[in-house]
Amino acid sequence: MNPTAPWTAARLRALKGREKIVSLTAYDYATARLLDESGVHLVLVGDSLGMAVLGYANTLPVTMRDMVHHTAAVARGVKQALVVADMPFMSYQVSIEQALANAGRFLRVGAHAVKVEGGELRVPLIRALVGNGIPVLGHIGLTPQSVQEFGGFKVQGRTDEAARKLLRDARAIAKAGVFAIVVESVPPKLAARITAAVKVPTIGIGAGPQCDGQVLVIHDLLGLGGDWKPKFAKRYADLGAAAKAAIGEYKREVADGTFPGPEHCY
Ligand code: KIV
Repeated sequence: MNPTAPWTAARLRALKGREKIVSLTAYDYATARLLDESGVHLVLVGDSLGMAVLGYANTLPVTMRDMVHHTAAVARGVKQALVVADMPFMSYQVSIEQALANAGRFLRVGAHAVKVEGGELRVPLIRALVGNGIPVLGHIGLTPQSVQEFGGFKVQGRTDEAARKLLRDARAIAKAGVFAIVVESVPPKLAARITAAVKVPTIGIGAGPQCDGQVLVIHDLLGLGGDWKPKFAKRYADLGAAAKAAIGEYKREVADGTFPGPEHCY
C-alpha cells in the first residue's frame, strides 16, 4: 500500500486489530494542515466547534451553515487524512430525506464521511446514508447533543442495564454499516467489551486505552481551551500560555516603539 495514499473509510475500518487509529478535531484550514502533515488518520470537524471556536455552552446551537463553512476550510487543508463532518443537532433527526440532503452538502464541500450520534434508533438512517454512498462514523456513550436528556456531561454506561444498552447500540450500528464508532465517556471495562463485541474499530474519548483508536478535541491537546480541562484529556502543550506571552511581548514592543524595527520597514 502506498504510504501516502489517502485514508478511506474502508482502509480505516481495516485497521482494527492491526494499528491504532489516531484522530483529532480541526475546525480551520491551518489546523487541518498541521494534523494532516503529522499523519493523523482521521480529522473530525466536530460540532465541538460550538464550544471550542464559537463560544457556546454546548453543541446544540451549532447549525448546518456553521458546520459546512468549517468543513470546507478543513477539507482544503487535508491531503491524506479522512475528513469526517459532524452532523449538527436536528440536521439528521427530523427525516431521512433531510439527513441525506444535509450529508450530501458535507460531501460536496470535501468531507469524506459524516458522523451521527446515537444507537439502535439510528439504524434506518445509517442504512440510508451508507446505501447512498455516504460513509458514516457512529457515536455512542456520552453523545453531547443529548446533554439535556442526560442532565449534563455525565459518564454513561455505569449501571448493568445502561452497559447492556450501549452494547446493543454498538452492535446495531456496526451491523447497519458504520465504518467505526466513537465511544465517549464510558468506563474503560465497558469500552473494552464494546470493542471486542464489534467488527469495526472503536475510537475512544474518555473511554480508556482498550479502544481501537483515540480522538481528542485539538484545543484540549494544545492547551487552547482556557481553564477547561476535562479529566480524559491530556494537555500535550500549553499554546494558550505561549500565545499570551507572545501577545504581551508584542504589546510591550508597540508601547515602547521597539516594533516595528528597521527590518520590518519598506
Ligand atoms: O464534536 C466533537 O468534537 C466530537 C468528538 C469529541 C468525538 O464529537
